Amino acid sequence: MSKFDVEKIKTGSNALRGTLVDSLADAATGAISEEDTQLSKFHGIYQQDDRDVREERRQRYLAPDHSFMIRARVPGGVCTPEQWLAMDAIANTWANGTLRLTTRQAFQFHGVLKGDLRPSLQAIDAVLMDTLAACGDVNRNVMCTTLPELSAVHRDTVAAADALSAHLSPQTTAYHEIWLDRGDGREQVVSAPDVEPIYGKTYLPRKFKVAFAIPPQNDVDVFAHDLGYVAVEDNGQLAGFNVTVGGGMGVTHGDPATYPLLAQVLGFCTPDQVNAVGETIVTIQRDFGDRSNRKHARFKYTVEDHGLEWLREEFERRAGFALGKPRPHVFTDTGDRYGWQETEDGRWHLLLFIQSGRIADHAGARQLTGLREIAKVLKGEFRLTPNQNVAIANVAAEDRDAIDAIIREHGLDTHERLSPLRLRALACVALPTCSLAMAEAERYLPDLLGKVEGLLSRHDLDGEGIGVRMTGCPNGCARPYLSEIGLVGKAPGHYNLHLGAAVDGTRLNRMVGENLDEQEILAVLDDWLGRFAKGRSGGEPFGDFIARTHPEFTGAPKEAAHA
Ligand code: HEM
Ligand code: SF4
Repeated sequence: MSKFDVEKIKTGSNALRGTLVDSLADAATGAISEEDTQLSKFHGIYQQDDRDVREERRQRYLAPDHSFMIRARVPGGVCTPEQWLAMDAIANTWANGTLRLTTRQAFQFHGVLKGDLRPSLQAIDAVLMDTLAACGDVNRNVMCTTLPELSAVHRDTVAAADALSAHLSPQTTAYHEIWLDRGDGREQVVSAPDVEPIYGKTYLPRKFKVAFAIPPQNDVDVFAHDLGYVAVEDNGQLAGFNVTVGGGMGVTHGDPATYPLLAQVLGFCTPDQVNAVGETIVTIQRDFGDRSNRKHARFKYTVEDHGLEWLREEFERRAGFALGKPRPHVFTDTGDRYGWQETEDGRWHLLLFIQSGRIADHAGARQLTGLREIAKVLKGEFRLTPNQNVAIANVAAEDRDAIDAIIREHGLDTHERLSPLRLRALACVALPTCSLAMAEAERYLPDLLGKVEGLLSRHDLDGEGIGVRMTGCPNGCARPYLSEIGLVGKAPGHYNLHLGAAVDGTRLNRMVGENLDEQEILAVLDDWLGRFAKGRSGGEPFGDFIARTHPEFTGAPKEAAHA
């Protein structure tokens, strides 16, 4: 489908309705029409097919094995026990019996059949969650740092993230009409002509992503986002945010006009200016983003093409106020801190490792069941982390024992048994569900990590928590360009190898090898790890060692992605 078509489909969609109702009613196929596959994304739904059997079915003249991925938004990653139980029930009733925590703090359900979409979305709605704008050319799930030391700042920052998420949500009534109308009149919505006060008829040129970070943690990878808010605290209270603009990951192999970019700081805003800042930036991107080329349509290219000064002027003209001077902020890390932690308010939080965010019942660890049991007794809430993990948050000291008993019974807390390498690693979904995957990621990474652990041992680097992120294609869903070791799928069994990002998410890596198979990846890593073991200074992280000893690794992000 040509890129122009997506613009046409959006404009002619009658506020995202298209022919989705007819597509859902068509019992002759498990799929929906091609135009509707573009629109369903705005409703948080991707049509997929099982790629493990695609070729075999093609040879037998069978249609692909279609099913759907549903993504539920969780602003700030905060999820109540009641919501968790609903997600768990959907995973078991209509999806493939697993719950996927994403790198952007959302839930994903895989393998949902067309006829089960409506019941699934209604079950999500019943616990006051939605899938609207989880995908598509709109603002997506708004992220927020999971577990800070300062609970007051966290509380106020999550509230700001929540409010901005609501403010930037599409106003179309199509979502209710198509998915939630149960036919008994309860959800009947008058179909007045929809007005999108922020997006207009054409929505955005491309997806838009927002994150709130609370230093010193940069778990959200704020610089990977179109728009970011970095919390600034004054005496334990939220003073406001440094506003960052123009970050993004997506790259197309072999197209040097595409590259990852880090966001830049535009200025400082007070908490009451958060929505106005978000709306102004979004409308600038709506009006100036490149609608003629989807590969050049992200806000990062708009900022690059026009410059930060232009953006500042356009911002002030539209918003009617200027941003303040940025305040200092320091990040230390993008990773998660596992185990129990106490915050200043005397509440306890337990962060659990989930491999690639896939929650399932395995032989050794009955994660899905265990987390369900916790949800039944938890008086606090769950928090989804940007590293695909989950925290059991806001537990009173006297309730810790009950939680610990469930954790032990179901083998849920594995972090003491696993290497720091595994505990930091991220992988996107890739095969078999993602239609864009060129290579494995989630299913292969654990295997490869075992071999990298072997290399670490060889160089006396056991226990070194080097960041590894793998994706099945260059779109970058697991933010591989911000990883000390990034592996980007090129073809089955082959990856581009990137090295040298900063552990605090402030420096991109660069490509050191193209289209490498496993043996080649391990050989290149062996060489670099050997040099690291000999030449590192003190506790210097691997990425920083590379940047210090090879200054060419610090510059030119454009070329870095490709050569
Ligand atoms: C620019 C091009 C991109 C396209 C076309 C794209 C498309 C997709 C698709 C089709 C999936 C579904 C895979 C599945 O669950 O089976 C997916 C998953 C996901 N994408 Fe992207 N994506 C892009 C870039 C990104 C970037 C840059 C990020 C974040 C930095 C991101 C975040 C995610 C997340 C969080 C998931 C869920 C699975 C996970 O946690 O890995 N995507 N994406
Ligand atoms: S990085 Fe590519 S393969 Fe992985 S989930 Fe995103 S689009 Fe799919």
